[in-house]
Amino acid sequence: MAKLNVKIGDLALKNPVLTASGTFGYGLEFADFIDLNALGGFIVKGTTLHPREGNDYPRMAETASGMLNCVGLQNKGVEHFCTEIYPQLTDFDSHVIVNVSGSTIEDYAACAARINELEHIPAIELNISCPNVKSGGMAFGVTCEGAASVVKAVRKAYSKTLIVKLSPNVTDIAAIARAVEAEGADSVSLINTLMGMSVDIERRRSRLSIGTGGLSGPCVKPVALRMVSQVARAVKIPVIGLGGIMNAEDALEFLMVGATAVEIGTANFIDPAVTIKVIEGMNDWLDRHGVKDVNEIIGVID
Ligand SMILES: Cc1cc2nc3c(=O)[nH]c(=O)nc-3n(C[C@H](O)[C@H](O)[C@H](O)COP(=O)(O)O)c2cc1C
Repeated sequence: MAKLNVKIGDLALKNPVLTASGTFGYGLEFADFIDLNALGGFIVKGTTLHPREGNDYPRMAETASGMLNCVGLQNKGVEHFCTEIYPQLTDFDSHVIVNVSGSTIEDYAACAARINELEHIPAIELNISCPNVKSGGMAFGVTCEGAASVVKAVRKAYSKTLIVKLSPNVTDIAAIARAVEAEGADSVSLINTLMGMSVDIERRRSRLSIGTGGLSGPCVKPVALRMVSQVARAVKIPVIGLGGIMNAEDALEFLMVGATAVEIGTANFIDPAVTIKVIEGMNDWLDRHGVKDVNEIIGVID
């Protein structure tokens, strides 16, 4: 069996397979289907300082080879997470990572500071694709200055592994990755969803309540791979790749273009055991090709 261990900053993962936020609940919902301890880690639902109801329905639409969603970060807030959910997550032999979102820099920092207190959460993933209300509804993650400002504030409030999740809805994602690296991010993950739309011509309206939504699934994989490849060349910190991974072969593509680990999202809705199949398939591929350590294939494609 090949060695599958990888490192994201100080965080040692037993294998490079994580779950993507918003597609795996709090992990507990999947405990009947898979052994959560077999994962490199699981990234739980987007958590904000205050509770959020999310957007009106409909919030999801199927597309060719993918889906659109506009869930809108529905969650009960960080205090609910700390008191009700966290106690159920302390005994896993797999890293639990919290995805942190916010509408203002102050909210992000306060949410991260609260999670910093939780002994069994070794890392957060900062979702910087949310609206920056104070500056008029633009996401922090679409400019270098916006991305840097939120990471700077969170870095002061959070002492453990800080992963910053990048938005693909930009022209130069490598520049944004460099900006967050300069402010102390330990890793970047990408991609979040691509902005999209779907129209119901009979009703003459969008299939989503707020008009647009985030596209995910196999249709985004080529874009995600291109961006991961660009970012991996642009920064020194480890890159986590995601977007449309459905099987071990897809995951290996991300590793070969420079990702140290991968996240699996939409595929969990199709097969709740997909993560385990990806780990097994990765192992088989490495064995068949005589590769003793997964790190040997990371970034082999220039
Ligand atoms: C229903 C749904 C909810 C999501 N919620 C979040 C979230 O709360 N925070 C976040 O950073 N990303 C969220 N995402 C984005 C995914 O984590 C992931 O970046 C994206 O779906 C691309 O990966 P995939 O093609 O494997 O799904 C969500 C995606 C979906 C489909």
